[in-house]
Amino acid sequence: MDIKLWTRWVALHAVPKVFMGIQARRGNPMGALIANHGRGNDPYPLMEEIRRRGPLLRTPFVWASADYAVCREVLRDRRFGVTPPTGVKMPRPLVRLLEWTDPLVANPVEPPAMVIVDPPDHTRYRQLVAQSFTPRAIEKLDTRVAEVTAELIESLSSTPQPDLIADFAARLPLVMIGEILGLPAQSHARLLEWGHHGSPLLDIGIPWRTYRRAVDGLRGIDSYLTDHFDHVRAGDTTVTPFSRMAAAHDLTDHELTANAALLIGAGFETTVNLIGNGIVLLQQHPDQLALLRDNPDLWPAAVEEILRIESPVQMTARTANCDVEIAGRRIRARDMVVVLLGGANRDPRVFAEPDRFDITRPNAREHLAFASGIHACLGAALARIEGATALRALFEAYPDLRLTETPRPRGLVSPVARPNLPLSM
Ligand code: HEM
Repeated sequence: MDIKLWTRWVALHAVPKVFMGIQARRGNPMGALIANHGRGNDPYPLMEEIRRRGPLLRTPFVWASADYAVCREVLRDRRFGVTPPTGVKMPRPLVRLLEWTDPLVANPVEPPAMVIVDPPDHTRYRQLVAQSFTPRAIEKLDTRVAEVTAELIESLSSTPQPDLIADFAARLPLVMIGEILGLPAQSHARLLEWGHHGSPLLDIGIPWRTYRRAVDGLRGIDSYLTDHFDHVRAGDTTVTPFSRMAAAHDLTDHELTANAALLIGAGFETTVNLIGNGIVLLQQHPDQLALLRDNPDLWPAAVEEILRIESPVQMTARTANCDVEIAGRRIRARDMVVVLLGGANRDPRVFAEPDRFDITRPNAREHLAFASGIHACLGAALARIEGATALRALFEAYPDLRLTETPRPRGLVSPVARPNLPLSM
Protein backbone atom coordinates (compact mmCIF):
# COMPACT_ATOMS: atom_id res chain seq x y z
CA MET A 1 0.00 0.00 0.00
CA ASP A 2 1.14 3.55 -0.77
CA ILE A 3 1.44 4.81 2.81
CA LYS A 4 1.89 8.45 1.83
CA LEU A 5 -1.25 8.41 -0.25
CA TRP A 6 -3.20 6.60 2.45
CA THR A 7 -2.11 9.19 5.03
CA ARG A 8 -3.23 11.95 2.72
CA TRP A 9 -6.62 10.28 2.29
CA VAL A 10 -6.98 10.01 6.08
CA ALA A 11 -6.27 13.75 6.48
CA LEU A 12 -8.37 14.96 3.53
CA HIS A 13 -11.29 12.53 3.56
CA ALA A 14 -11.51 10.09 6.47
CA VAL A 15 -11.13 12.64 9.29
CA PRO A 16 -13.54 15.23 7.78
CA LYS A 17 -16.09 12.48 7.09
CA VAL A 18 -16.05 11.23 10.71
CA PHE A 19 -16.11 14.80 12.02
CA MET A 20 -19.06 15.76 9.81
CA GLY A 21 -20.87 12.55 10.83
CA ILE A 22 -20.58 13.57 14.49
CA GLN A 23 -21.76 17.08 13.60
CA ALA A 24 -24.73 15.62 11.69
CA ARG A 25 -25.75 13.58 14.76
CA ARG A 26 -25.59 16.79 16.82
CA GLY A 27 -28.12 18.41 14.47
CA ASN A 28 -25.70 20.52 12.41
CA PRO A 29 -27.24 20.73 8.89
CA MET A 30 -23.83 21.42 7.29
CA GLY A 31 -22.50 18.19 8.84
CA ALA A 32 -25.58 16.35 7.58
CA LEU A 33 -25.10 17.77 4.10
CA ILE A 34 -21.59 16.34 3.85
CA ALA A 35 -22.19 13.15 5.81
CA ASN A 36 -25.45 12.12 4.11
CA HIS A 37 -24.41 12.47 0.53
CA GLY A 38 -23.93 9.29 -1.44
CA ARG A 39 -27.16 7.96 0.05
CA GLY A 40 -29.24 9.63 -2.61
CA ASN A 41 -30.40 12.26 -0.14
CA ASP A 42 -31.95 15.44 -1.41
CA PRO A 43 -29.53 18.27 -0.46
CA TYR A 44 -32.04 21.11 -0.80
CA PRO A 45 -33.99 20.74 2.49
CA LEU A 46 -30.64 20.85 4.34
CA MET A 47 -29.56 23.95 2.42
CA GLU A 48 -32.91 25.52 3.24
CA GLU A 49 -32.38 24.70 6.90
CA ILE A 50 -28.96 26.39 6.75
CA ARG A 51 -30.54 29.51 5.18
CA ARG A 52 -33.37 29.46 7.74
CA ARG A 53 -30.77 29.66 10.53
CA GLY A 54 -29.37 32.90 9.11
CA PRO A 55 -27.33 34.35 6.25
CA LEU A 56 -24.13 32.87 7.70
CA LEU A 57 -24.13 29.75 9.83
CA ARG A 58 -21.22 29.22 12.22
CA THR A 59 -20.32 25.55 12.62
CA PRO A 60 -17.39 24.23 14.71
CA PHE A 61 -15.18 23.97 11.65
CA VAL A 62 -16.44 26.30 8.92
CA TRP A 63 -18.98 29.00 8.16
CA ALA A 64 -21.70 28.09 5.66
CA SER A 65 -24.12 30.15 3.61
CA ALA A 66 -27.05 29.34 1.35
CA ASP A 67 -28.05 33.01 1.21
CA TYR A 68 -27.78 34.44 -2.31
CA ALA A 69 -26.55 37.91 -1.29
CA VAL A 70 -23.90 36.55 1.11
CA CYS A 71 -22.68 33.87 -1.34
CA ARG A 72 -22.30 36.44 -4.09
CA GLU A 73 -20.56 38.88 -1.78
CA VAL A 74 -18.07 36.28 -0.51
CA LEU A 75 -17.26 35.20 -4.08
CA ARG A 76 -16.66 38.79 -5.20
CA ASP A 77 -14.92 40.17 -2.11
CA ARG A 78 -11.16 40.36 -2.70
CA ARG A 79 -10.55 39.98 1.04
CA PHE A 80 -11.35 36.31 0.49
CA GLY A 81 -9.07 33.87 -1.31
CA VAL A 82 -9.38 30.29 -2.48
CA THR A 83 -8.88 27.35 -0.14
CA PRO A 84 -6.18 24.86 -1.16
CA PRO A 85 -5.94 21.72 1.06
CA THR A 86 -2.97 23.15 2.95
CA GLY A 87 -4.77 26.50 3.42
CA VAL A 88 -7.53 25.06 5.62
CA LYS A 89 -7.22 26.19 9.24
CA MET A 90 -5.59 23.21 10.88
CA PRO A 91 -2.64 22.41 13.15
CA ARG A 92 0.78 23.07 11.58
CA PRO A 93 1.86 19.37 11.75
CA LEU A 94 -1.18 18.43 9.65
CA VAL A 95 -0.22 21.05 7.03
CA ARG A 96 3.32 19.58 6.93
CA LEU A 97 1.81 16.11 6.58
CA LEU A 98 -0.22 17.25 3.59
CA GLU A 99 2.83 18.87 2.00
CA TRP A 100 4.85 15.67 2.57
CA THR A 101 2.14 13.45 1.05
CA ASP A 102 1.42 15.57 -2.04
CA PRO A 103 1.42 13.11 -4.99
CA LEU A 104 2.50 16.03 -7.25
CA VAL A 105 0.23 15.05 -10.10
CA ALA A 106 -1.80 17.47 -12.19
CA ASN A 107 -4.85 17.84 -9.97
CA PRO A 108 -7.71 20.09 -11.11
CA VAL A 109 -8.62 20.98 -7.54
CA GLU A 110 -5.14 21.73 -6.21
CA PRO A 111 -2.56 24.43 -7.07
CA PRO A 112 -1.32 25.34 -9.62
CA ALA A 113 -4.74 24.77 -11.25
CA MET A 114 -6.05 28.36 -11.50
CA VAL A 115 -9.31 27.66 -9.70
CA ILE A 116 -7.39 27.07 -6.50
CA VAL A 117 -4.75 29.83 -6.84
CA ASP A 118 -5.00 33.49 -5.76
CA PRO A 119 -3.65 36.50 -7.70
CA PRO A 120 -1.10 37.33 -8.95
CA ASP A 121 -0.55 33.75 -10.25
CA HIS A 122 -4.28 33.33 -10.86
CA THR A 123 -4.37 36.43 -13.08
CA ARG A 124 -1.44 35.17 -15.14
CA TYR A 125 -2.90 31.68 -15.66
CA ARG A 126 -6.38 32.99 -16.40
CA GLN A 127 -5.20 35.53 -18.99
CA LEU A 128 -3.25 32.83 -20.82
CA VAL A 129 -5.95 30.14 -20.76
CA ALA A 130 -8.64 32.72 -21.67
CA GLN A 131 -7.11 32.85 -25.18
CA SER A 132 -8.97 29.58 -25.82
CA PHE A 133 -12.29 31.27 -24.95
CA THR A 134 -12.21 34.63 -26.81
CA PRO A 135 -15.43 35.57 -28.68
CA ARG A 136 -13.74 34.45 -31.93
CA ALA A 137 -12.68 31.11 -30.43
CA ILE A 138 -16.20 30.60 -29.02
CA GLU A 139 -17.70 31.25 -32.47
CA LYS A 140 -15.57 28.43 -33.89
CA LEU A 141 -16.43 26.16 -30.97
CA ASP A 142 -20.14 26.92 -31.54
CA THR A 143 -19.89 25.57 -35.09
CA ARG A 144 -18.06 22.44 -33.86
CA VAL A 145 -20.64 21.87 -31.09
CA ALA A 146 -23.38 21.84 -33.75
CA GLU A 147 -21.43 19.41 -35.97
CA VAL A 148 -20.49 17.03 -33.15
CA THR A 149 -24.05 17.08 -31.77
CA ALA A 150 -25.46 16.17 -35.19
CA GLU A 151 -23.04 13.22 -35.43
CA LEU A 152 -23.97 12.02 -31.94
CA ILE A 153 -27.71 12.23 -32.68
CA GLU A 154 -27.11 10.26 -35.87
CA SER A 155 -25.21 7.53 -34.03
CA LEU A 156 -27.90 7.32 -31.30
CA SER A 157 -30.34 6.13 -33.97
CA SER A 158 -28.18 3.07 -34.66
CA THR A 159 -27.47 2.26 -30.99
CA PRO A 160 -29.93 -0.21 -29.51
CA GLN A 161 -31.14 0.95 -26.03
CA PRO A 162 -28.69 3.87 -25.81
CA ASP A 163 -27.54 5.19 -22.44
CA LEU A 164 -28.09 8.93 -22.66
CA ILE A 165 -25.20 9.76 -20.34
CA ALA A 166 -22.53 7.48 -21.81
CA ASP A 167 -23.65 7.66 -25.45
CA PHE A 168 -24.63 11.30 -25.62
CA ALA A 169 -24.24 13.70 -22.68
CA ALA A 170 -20.64 12.63 -21.93
CA ARG A 171 -19.47 12.55 -25.54
CA LEU A 172 -20.03 16.17 -26.53
CA PRO A 173 -18.00 17.89 -23.75
CA LEU A 174 -15.27 15.29 -24.10
CA VAL A 175 -14.81 15.96 -27.82
CA MET A 176 -14.91 19.72 -27.25
CA ILE A 177 -12.28 19.74 -24.49
CA GLY A 178 -10.14 17.33 -26.51
CA GLU A 179 -10.26 19.76 -29.43
CA ILE A 180 -9.53 22.81 -27.25
CA LEU A 181 -6.42 21.08 -25.91
CA GLY A 182 -5.54 19.76 -29.38
CA LEU A 183 -5.65 16.12 -28.21
CA PRO A 184 -6.03 13.39 -30.83
CA ALA A 185 -9.46 11.70 -31.04
CA GLN A 186 -7.92 8.32 -30.08
CA SER A 187 -7.20 9.68 -26.60
CA HIS A 188 -10.87 10.39 -25.81
CA ALA A 189 -11.73 6.92 -24.44
CA ARG A 190 -8.77 7.01 -22.04
CA LEU A 191 -9.60 10.55 -20.92
CA LEU A 192 -13.15 9.46 -20.25
CA GLU A 193 -11.99 6.60 -18.06
CA TRP A 194 -9.48 8.71 -16.12
CA GLY A 195 -11.98 11.55 -15.79
CA HIS A 196 -14.63 9.15 -14.56
CA HIS A 197 -12.31 7.80 -11.86
CA GLY A 198 -10.96 11.26 -11.02
CA SER A 199 -14.26 13.13 -10.59
CA PRO A 200 -14.90 11.94 -6.98
CA LEU A 201 -11.93 14.12 -6.00
CA LEU A 202 -14.37 17.04 -6.25
CA ASP A 203 -16.12 15.49 -3.30
CA ILE A 204 -15.50 15.32 0.46
CA GLY A 205 -15.18 12.15 2.52
CA ILE A 206 -14.74 9.60 -0.28
CA PRO A 207 -13.73 5.97 0.55
CA TRP A 208 -10.06 4.94 0.34
CA ARG A 209 -10.47 2.72 -2.75
CA THR A 210 -12.29 5.49 -4.63
CA TYR A 211 -9.55 7.96 -3.64
CA ARG A 212 -6.75 5.63 -4.76
CA ARG A 213 -8.46 4.98 -8.09
CA ALA A 214 -9.01 8.73 -8.53
CA VAL A 215 -5.32 9.51 -7.95
CA ASP A 216 -4.38 6.71 -10.38
CA GLY A 217 -6.71 8.42 -12.89
CA LEU A 218 -4.90 11.72 -12.31
CA ARG A 219 -1.53 10.03 -12.76
CA GLY A 220 -2.75 8.66 -16.10
CA ILE A 221 -3.92 12.12 -17.22
CA ASP A 222 -0.73 13.71 -15.92
CA SER A 223 1.67 11.45 -17.81
CA TYR A 224 -0.47 11.54 -20.95
CA LEU A 225 -0.64 15.36 -20.93
CA THR A 226 3.09 15.66 -20.21
CA ASP A 227 3.88 13.52 -23.30
CA HIS A 228 1.32 15.42 -25.34
CA PHE A 229 2.74 18.84 -24.47
CA ASP A 230 6.25 17.57 -25.22
CA HIS A 231 5.01 16.89 -28.75
CA VAL A 232 3.27 20.27 -28.86
CA ARG A 233 6.45 22.03 -27.85
CA ALA A 234 8.32 20.09 -30.51
CA GLY A 235 5.84 21.58 -33.01
CA ASP A 236 4.34 18.20 -33.78
CA THR A 237 0.57 18.54 -33.32
CA THR A 238 -2.70 20.27 -34.20
CA VAL A 239 -2.58 24.03 -33.61
CA THR A 240 -5.14 25.44 -31.18
CA PRO A 241 -4.94 28.60 -29.02
CA PHE A 242 -4.08 26.32 -26.07
CA SER A 243 -1.31 24.49 -27.93
CA ARG A 244 0.11 27.84 -29.12
CA MET A 245 0.25 28.96 -25.50
CA ALA A 246 1.90 25.67 -24.51
CA ALA A 247 4.45 25.98 -27.28
CA ALA A 248 5.30 29.53 -26.20
CA HIS A 249 6.49 28.15 -22.83
CA ASP A 250 4.30 30.67 -21.04
CA LEU A 251 3.80 28.17 -18.24
CA THR A 252 6.06 25.60 -16.62
CA ASP A 253 5.31 21.92 -17.32
CA HIS A 254 3.48 21.49 -14.03
CA GLU A 255 1.45 24.71 -14.46
CA LEU A 256 0.53 23.66 -17.97
CA THR A 257 -0.59 20.11 -17.17
CA ALA A 258 -2.46 21.20 -14.01
CA ASN A 259 -4.42 23.83 -15.94
CA ALA A 260 -5.08 21.44 -18.84
CA ALA A 261 -6.32 18.88 -16.27
CA LEU A 262 -8.51 21.64 -14.83
CA LEU A 263 -10.16 22.17 -18.21
CA ILE A 264 -10.81 18.42 -18.41
CA GLY A 265 -12.11 18.31 -14.82
CA ALA A 266 -14.06 21.57 -14.86
CA GLY A 267 -15.44 21.29 -18.37
CA PHE A 268 -16.39 17.66 -18.50
CA GLU A 269 -18.23 16.47 -15.38
CA THR A 270 -20.15 19.75 -15.05
CA THR A 271 -21.43 19.81 -18.63
CA VAL A 272 -22.46 16.14 -18.48
CA ASN A 273 -24.50 17.09 -15.42
CA LEU A 274 -26.09 20.07 -17.16
CA ILE A 275 -27.21 17.93 -20.11
CA GLY A 276 -28.24 14.99 -17.87
CA ASN A 277 -30.19 17.19 -15.48
CA GLY A 278 -31.81 18.98 -18.45
CA ILE A 279 -33.06 15.70 -19.93
CA VAL A 280 -34.55 14.64 -16.59
CA LEU A 281 -36.16 18.01 -15.82
CA LEU A 282 -37.73 18.33 -19.26
CA GLN A 283 -39.01 14.76 -19.06
CA GLN A 284 -40.61 15.56 -15.73
CA HIS A 285 -42.13 18.82 -17.00
CA PRO A 286 -43.87 18.18 -20.35
CA ASP A 287 -45.55 21.61 -20.15
CA GLN A 288 -42.11 23.27 -20.27
CA LEU A 289 -41.03 21.03 -23.14
CA ALA A 290 -44.20 22.05 -25.02
CA LEU A 291 -43.21 25.72 -24.59
CA LEU A 292 -39.83 24.91 -26.17
CA ARG A 293 -41.46 23.09 -29.05
CA ASP A 294 -43.64 26.14 -29.77
CA ASN A 295 -40.80 28.60 -29.31
CA PRO A 296 -37.27 27.18 -29.81
CA ASP A 297 -35.79 30.62 -29.05
CA LEU A 298 -36.46 29.75 -25.40
CA TRP A 299 -33.69 27.08 -25.31
CA PRO A 300 -31.00 29.40 -23.91
CA ALA A 301 -33.43 30.53 -21.16
CA ALA A 302 -34.24 26.88 -20.41
CA VAL A 303 -30.52 26.18 -19.93
CA GLU A 304 -30.28 29.02 -17.38
CA GLU A 305 -33.21 27.61 -15.43
CA ILE A 306 -31.71 24.09 -15.50
CA LEU A 307 -28.42 25.51 -14.17
CA ARG A 308 -30.29 27.39 -11.46
CA ILE A 309 -32.50 24.62 -10.18
CA GLU A 310 -29.95 21.76 -10.42
CA SER A 311 -26.57 23.46 -10.20
CA PRO A 312 -23.87 21.07 -11.44
CA VAL A 313 -21.42 22.48 -8.87
CA GLN A 314 -23.31 22.58 -5.60
CA MET A 315 -20.68 24.22 -3.44
CA THR A 316 -17.32 25.92 -3.31
CA ALA A 317 -15.36 27.60 -0.52
CA ARG A 318 -13.36 30.72 0.23
CA THR A 319 -11.00 31.61 3.07
CA ALA A 320 -10.80 35.07 4.68
CA ASN A 321 -7.38 36.70 4.24
CA CYS A 322 -8.10 39.10 7.11
CA ASP A 323 -10.90 39.72 9.62
CA VAL A 324 -14.05 40.51 7.64
CA GLU A 325 -17.54 41.55 8.68
CA ILE A 326 -20.38 40.22 6.54
CA ALA A 327 -24.12 40.16 7.27
CA GLY A 328 -23.36 41.35 10.79
CA ARG A 329 -21.04 38.39 11.53
CA ARG A 330 -17.31 38.71 12.15
CA ILE A 331 -15.31 36.22 10.13
CA ARG A 332 -11.77 35.87 11.39
CA ALA A 333 -8.66 35.69 9.18
CA ARG A 334 -8.14 32.09 7.89
CA ASP A 335 -11.75 31.10 8.58
CA MET A 336 -13.31 29.18 5.74
CA VAL A 337 -16.76 29.93 4.30
CA VAL A 338 -18.59 27.18 2.40
CA VAL A 339 -20.56 28.87 -0.38
CA LEU A 340 -23.61 26.72 -1.18
CA LEU A 341 -24.23 27.64 -4.81
CA GLY A 342 -27.14 25.18 -5.10
CA GLY A 343 -28.75 26.77 -2.02
CA ALA A 344 -28.16 30.36 -3.16
CA ASN A 345 -29.84 29.48 -6.45
CA ARG A 346 -32.98 28.51 -4.55
CA ASP A 347 -33.05 31.56 -2.27
CA PRO A 348 -36.72 32.69 -2.30
CA ARG A 349 -35.69 36.32 -1.77
CA VAL A 350 -34.20 36.30 -5.27
CA PHE A 351 -36.05 33.53 -7.10
CA ALA A 352 -39.81 33.44 -6.50
CA GLU A 353 -41.09 29.91 -5.79
CA PRO A 354 -37.54 28.64 -6.14
CA ASP A 355 -38.40 24.93 -6.31
CA ARG A 356 -40.60 25.46 -9.38
CA PHE A 357 -38.96 24.69 -12.73
CA ASP A 358 -40.00 27.57 -14.98
CA ILE A 359 -38.08 28.22 -18.18
CA THR A 360 -39.73 31.65 -18.53
CA ARG A 361 -38.44 32.84 -15.14
CA PRO A 362 -37.28 36.41 -15.89
CA ASN A 363 -34.17 36.43 -13.67
CA ALA A 364 -32.96 32.80 -13.99
CA ARG A 365 -29.69 34.03 -15.52
CA GLU A 366 -28.75 35.71 -12.24
CA HIS A 367 -27.96 32.25 -10.79
CA LEU A 368 -24.54 31.56 -9.28
CA ALA A 369 -24.06 28.18 -11.01
CA PHE A 370 -20.93 29.55 -12.70
CA ALA A 371 -19.89 31.29 -9.43
CA SER A 372 -18.98 35.01 -9.58
CA GLY A 373 -15.95 37.26 -9.11
CA ILE A 374 -12.44 36.58 -10.36
CA HIS A 375 -12.90 32.78 -10.51
CA ALA A 376 -16.22 32.92 -12.42
CA CYS A 377 -16.34 30.02 -14.85
CA LEU A 378 -14.08 30.58 -17.84
CA GLY A 379 -16.01 28.03 -19.91
CA ALA A 380 -19.50 29.42 -19.19
CA ALA A 381 -20.15 30.56 -22.78
CA LEU A 382 -19.11 27.16 -24.14
CA ALA A 383 -21.17 25.29 -21.51
CA ARG A 384 -24.26 27.34 -22.37
CA ILE A 385 -23.84 26.58 -26.09
CA GLU A 386 -23.27 22.86 -25.42
CA GLY A 387 -26.32 22.64 -23.14
CA ALA A 388 -28.72 24.43 -25.48
CA THR A 389 -27.48 22.71 -28.66
CA ALA A 390 -27.43 19.19 -27.21
CA LEU A 391 -30.81 19.37 -25.47
CA ARG A 392 -32.57 21.01 -28.39
CA ALA A 393 -31.17 18.53 -30.91
CA LEU A 394 -32.07 15.56 -28.71
CA PHE A 395 -35.68 16.61 -28.06
CA GLU A 396 -36.20 17.65 -31.69
CA ALA A 397 -34.87 14.32 -32.97
CA TYR A 398 -36.78 12.31 -30.36
CA PRO A 399 -39.96 14.20 -29.46
CA ASP A 400 -41.39 11.05 -27.81
CA LEU A 401 -38.25 10.25 -25.87
CA ARG A 402 -38.90 8.15 -22.75
CA LEU A 403 -36.46 7.12 -20.04
CA THR A 404 -36.66 3.42 -19.26
CA GLU A 405 -35.18 3.69 -15.76
CA THR A 406 -35.64 6.16 -12.95
CA PRO A 407 -32.57 8.43 -12.96
CA ARG A 408 -30.54 8.51 -9.76
CA PRO A 409 -28.33 11.37 -8.55
CA ARG A 410 -24.68 10.39 -8.51
CA GLY A 411 -24.35 11.03 -4.81
CA LEU A 412 -21.39 13.41 -4.98
CA VAL A 413 -21.60 16.55 -2.88
CA SER A 414 -20.50 18.86 -5.66
CA PRO A 415 -22.16 17.60 -8.82
CA VAL A 416 -25.64 16.11 -8.88
CA ALA A 417 -25.50 14.32 -12.21
CA ARG A 418 -27.49 11.23 -12.98
CA PRO A 419 -25.46 8.15 -13.87
CA ASN A 420 -27.54 6.25 -16.42
CA LEU A 421 -30.41 7.44 -18.43
CA PRO A 422 -31.39 4.58 -20.70
CA LEU A 423 -33.62 5.87 -23.40
CA SER A 424 -36.47 4.35 -25.32
CA MET A 425 -38.49 5.85 -28.16
C1 HEM B 1 -22.42 23.54 -16.91
C2 HEM B 1 -21.12 23.55 -16.98
C3 HEM B 1 -20.22 24.25 -16.00
C4 HEM B 1 -20.46 24.70 -14.73
C5 HEM B 1 -21.75 24.61 -13.93
C6 HEM B 1 -19.23 25.28 -14.24
C7 HEM B 1 -19.09 25.85 -12.99
C8 HEM B 1 -17.95 26.47 -12.55
C9 HEM B 1 -17.79 27.09 -11.26
C10 HEM B 1 -18.85 27.14 -10.17
C11 HEM B 1 -16.54 27.61 -11.20
C12 HEM B 1 -15.93 28.41 -10.03
C13 HEM B 1 -15.39 27.50 -8.98
C14 HEM B 1 -14.89 28.29 -7.79
O1 HEM B 1 -14.80 29.51 -7.83
O2 HEM B 1 -14.54 27.66 -6.78
C15 HEM B 1 -15.90 27.30 -12.45
C16 HEM B 1 -14.60 27.66 -12.76
C17 HEM B 1 -13.97 27.28 -13.93
N1 HEM B 1 -14.54 26.63 -15.00
FE1 HEM B 1 -16.44 26.02 -15.16
N2 HEM B 1 -18.29 25.19 -15.23
C18 HEM B 1 -18.85 24.57 -16.32
C19 HEM B 1 -18.24 24.31 -17.52
C20 HEM B 1 -16.96 24.62 -17.85
C21 HEM B 1 -16.32 24.38 -19.12
C22 HEM B 1 -17.03 23.77 -20.34
C23 HEM B 1 -15.03 24.78 -19.01
C24 HEM B 1 -13.91 24.73 -20.03
C25 HEM B 1 -13.81 23.88 -20.99
C26 HEM B 1 -14.86 25.31 -17.67
C27 HEM B 1 -13.69 25.84 -17.18
C28 HEM B 1 -13.57 26.46 -15.96
C29 HEM B 1 -12.32 27.04 -15.48
C30 HEM B 1 -10.98 27.06 -16.23
C31 HEM B 1 -12.57 27.54 -14.22
C32 HEM B 1 -11.60 28.25 -13.29
C33 HEM B 1 -11.71 29.75 -13.47
C34 HEM B 1 -10.82 30.53 -12.50
O3 HEM B 1 -10.41 30.00 -11.47
O4 HEM B 1 -10.52 31.70 -12.81
N3 HEM B 1 -16.03 25.20 -16.99
N4 HEM B 1 -16.77 26.63 -13.26
